[in-house]
Amino acid sequence: MENKYQNPSLSPKERTEDLLSLMTLEEKVGQMMQISYNTLTLEEAEDWVVNKNAGSFLHVLGKEAEHLQELALSNRLGIPIIFGIDAIHGHGLMNGATIFPSQLGMSCSWNPELIEKAGRVTAREVAADGIHWTFSPVLCIGRDLRWGRINETFGEDPYLIGVLAAAIIKGYQGKNLSDADSIAACAKHYLAYGESTGGRDAYDTEVTYRKIREVFLPPFKKAVEAGCATFMTGYQSIDGVPMAVNKKLLREILKEELGFEGFVVTDYNNTGSLITLQKVSPDISDASKKSVEAGNDMIMATNDFYEATIELVKSGLLSESLIDEAVGRILSLKFSMGLFDTKKRSGYVSREVISCKEHQQVNLELTRESLVLLKNSKNILPLNRNNEIKKLAVIGPNADNLKAQFGDWTFFTHPDPKPDAVPNFEYYTMLKGITELSASRGIEVAYHKGCDLLTDEHDIEGAVTTVSDCDAIIAVVGDCVEQNGEFKDRANLDLSGSQLELLKALKSLGKPLIVILVNGKPLSIPWLYRNADAIVETFNSGILGGKATAELLYGEFIPSGKLSISFPYHSGQTPVYYNQLSGWHSPKYVDLPDKNALYPFGYGLSYTKYQYSNLVLSTKVCNKNDTITVQVNVTNRGKYDGTEIVQLYINDKISSIMTPDKELKGFARVFIKAGETKTVSINLSISDLALVTPDEKYIVEPGEFEIMVGPDSRDSSLLKEILVVK
Ligand code: NOJ
Repeated sequence: MENKYQNPSLSPKERTEDLLSLMTLEEKVGQMMQISYNTLTLEEAEDWVVNKNAGSFLHVLGKEAEHLQELALSNRLGIPIIFGIDAIHGHGLMNGATIFPSQLGMSCSWNPELIEKAGRVTAREVAADGIHWTFSPVLCIGRDLRWGRINETFGEDPYLIGVLAAAIIKGYQGKNLSDADSIAACAKHYLAYGESTGGRDAYDTEVTYRKIREVFLPPFKKAVEAGCATFMTGYQSIDGVPMAVNKKLLREILKEELGFEGFVVTDYNNTGSLITLQKVSPDISDASKKSVEAGNDMIMATNDFYEATIELVKSGLLSESLIDEAVGRILSLKFSMGLFDTKKRSGYVSREVISCKEHQQVNLELTRESLVLLKNSKNILPLNRNNEIKKLAVIGPNADNLKAQFGDWTFFTHPDPKPDAVPNFEYYTMLKGITELSASRGIEVAYHKGCDLLTDEHDIEGAVTTVSDCDAIIAVVGDCVEQNGEFKDRANLDLSGSQLELLKALKSLGKPLIVILVNGKPLSIPWLYRNADAIVETFNSGILGGKATAELLYGEFIPSGKLSISFPYHSGQTPVYYNQLSGWHSPKYVDLPDKNALYPFGYGLSYTKYQYSNLVLSTKVCNKNDTITVQVNVTNRGKYDGTEIVQLYINDKISSIMTPDKELKGFARVFIKAGETKTVSINLSISDLALVTPDEKYIVEPGEFEIMVGPDSRDSSLLKEILVVK
């Protein structure tokens, strides 16, 4: 006779309760294990499934995942494995799948609809590979630019991050988690992981709980509201308490206060690190007990948690009810996702979807919108409007550098780095994109690498010779995978190797110098700011980066991207995020030209020009529970139709606790034809004006608020009106 839990017409809750009641302690603890596939032999992996009922694996693809799943299903209770993968910007660990721009790149589109579509594409491709769960999105706040993982963030602003997080989670999880092509999302790294001191990855974070609630928690709250199925615990510590044992944040705030009903997975060997790196536990028994008590439900890659935890429960040192709670959350998601049903098995989503035309189209659109035009002196771009170019020089170490263009989290870098892998798909480096589009316009292209990115090795003379019969120079510089990612924090954000020397030599030739940046994070580029004729920021733009960038150069579309993160004049200016507090005695660092960023948050040019006028609030006086409408006229004064990203900032004029000079609270994307004026409306809920008190309460204080609207976060760009909250 069938058990109750096998009956699909019962609710996940009923099925979970029934299954839990049938499980042995060993089977339960097995469900809490997430095993890292690439650290084991096949036999060892099989042993984890057959003899220990492992609940999850990470980083196993295709046929091998299928094989392990078959073994799991033939276990005593037939509990399916949930397979997780780092599909961070597309299913990039699989050679052949769609690779999108990095999160940092895509966030510059400020386009939640398109980012949701990218999530959908990723979900389909991951599901077609028989995998159920992506460890994405990253909701860390990119404020210390030295940190190696800035590329993985949606930038520096909690509001923008929250909006984009909700969008991508919706995309991953689809209409119903049980649909064959829906996958579970994972909001990570909970919490304030990006803020570690000195930008040192996984190091101690000096943040207060007030700050946590003001800055770091809001995007994660949006993730809970969006129904995000899982959360991942950060690696770092907060004021000396490792995140993996932070009961207040995991149990009290996430699960109890925010009502998160999914499960929490640790990061890779967080539990083991309590002993070896953070040194708060003497042994695995203590580390396992603390990890469970704090509220972690699944343990990633600490395999000796299994024996230790069984022993802890048997000896009465750990309550079995905590194990039941953790396993209940895991099983409940497995039921909700339909993992017990056949349609969640590989084969149900055809592999034909992987990199299909429709997916490439979504990628191309998102890549186009991710590019940010930082400089365009004398409207040098779009290129060749007067047929002045017969031959173009493409110079620089990132011109033909697919690995740098992809950035972190592809098969080149994870799980076992395969730097020499041959891509299994058609891709566009900057060189290829520019060469192809130039050829179609009868323009010849000459290429020279010029220099290495990491060493002083260069052939600047060779590059200069290459340029000699060219009419303009496209220099492609930036950084590379060795300078981004875990274990790759930087102290110096200048262009590395001989890149600056190369650029100076190119500049001295007196030809138009257009610079394309291919980089994981903002670099300090004051020389480019002063000397390049045009600068295009592409970050890590994925498979179609070169195609979209070439189209931008030739004006095949009108750029609309805006920075989601600020650029410093100098490494020492970090942090340079826009939403800082007032009160600094100095007007600026004495050795820098400006207090503000070189290129600030929200900034980005287009080939057309927008003019803002007539800022009107639906009311000038309101109550705390109101929602008001903020309206502004935006006129397209240029020659091209375009899309403008209209930004709404607020400032609490006088508050009981200091609040940032500016905080983004809304934005709108509007398409405006050349010569046309559009009235743009953005709703502002007054509850969003709340500050966090020292005793961690959110309150809206009565008084005056400045409401600011404009094209970017610079003071000089914004129209302002006063709103009085009663
Ligand atoms: C470590 C990283 O911090 C995390 O982002 C990732 O998802 C896991 N390892 C699994 O690869």
